[in-house]
Amino acid sequence: MQTLITDSPREAADFINRGQIVAFPTETVYGLGADITNDDAVQRIFLAKGRPGDNPLIVHVYSPKEVEKVAASIPETARKLMDRFFPGPLTLVLCKQSRISPLVTAGLPTVGVRCPRHPVTRAFLRECRHPVAAPSANLSGKPSSTDWKSVHEDLNGKINCILRGEQSAIGLESTIVDCATEPPRLLRAGAISLDELRAIVPGLLGPAAIEEHAQPKSPGLKYPHYAPSAEIRLCGEEYGVCEGGKETAWIGLSPPPEGAAVTCRCDDAGEYAHRLFRFFRECDREHIRTIFCEMPPPEGIGQALRDRLRRAAEGK
Ligand code: TXA
Ligand code: MG
Repeated sequence: MQTLITDSPREAADFINRGQIVAFPTETVYGLGADITNDDAVQRIFLAKGRPGDNPLIVHVYSPKEVEKVAASIPETARKLMDRFFPGPLTLVLCKQSRISPLVTAGLPTVGVRCPRHPVTRAFLRECRHPVAAPSANLSGKPSSTDWKSVHEDLNGKINCILRGEQSAIGLESTIVDCATEPPRLLRAGAISLDELRAIVPGLLGPAAIEEHAQPKSPGLKYPHYAPSAEIRLCGEEYGVCEGGKETAWIGLSPPPEGAAVTCRCDDAGEYAHRLFRFFRECDREHIRTIFCEMPPPEGIGQALRDRLRRAAEGK
């Protein structure tokens, strides 16, 4: 299959409207989309990524108003979160309308809905006739793609089109909140922190409450994620030092250690998040064996970063 690369949101949307699958930029990470009303196209997303069929997709809508097209009802707490954070890097899990295909939701009675903020994403979604189901645009198990070249590396020849944009500003996937239960609970940390969510919904449950459940509430959380081929070792105050060496790399906020072959020093947690997944991929290209990742403090996006770094370290 030929994968067309375009800068035109309208041309990319035409592919979606013809039942094809398209990678597109968002402020979090790149997505791989299909028309939610087209089961064949949705099925092809799973094939292209090698994604397990029991892992549901997030539905992307152009405007907050369109949430009503996919959700059966919108509880008061969800409304408040939408008013504050849509459009933006937040996904809400809501009871689904019966017409939403079980392929999209992996048979769950709920649907994850997100209204992205990035202008190119919005221009693209506005041209699509229906909401767009999209997971991150990477091969299953690999780090999410935060630039179009990473999408190309994983999916060239397997998808119909890549809508080319800039490197994703945030660089980590959206915050996910389950609003189908009362009180709502955080399912995945992201750029919108627990404190920011609780400023709007004070009773919102944090990740500690999730761990009490034997079954992960978000099916995707049980799969290994975010992992490059290199081994990830955590370092920093609570974790010990980075041992440099010619096949090692380091990323963090402190001055880089001596001896690591590739290093990436970031000014703050925001820059760390922005660069992390691309750095993982660069390290794989350089045949790095071990990547030392300095744990950032758990404030703001630092919480989400710590979550992704822990998962990446567990992945191997
Ligand atoms: O920032 C993002 O969220 C990006 C961009 C493209 O929007 N998307 C993304 O999708 O990260 P994905 O498929 O890589 O991760 C979605 C996560 C999975 O862990 C999935 O299990 C969970 O969301 N999810 C989707 N629908 C759900 C539902 N109804 N209930 C619980 N979890 C759900
Ligand atoms: Mg993903």
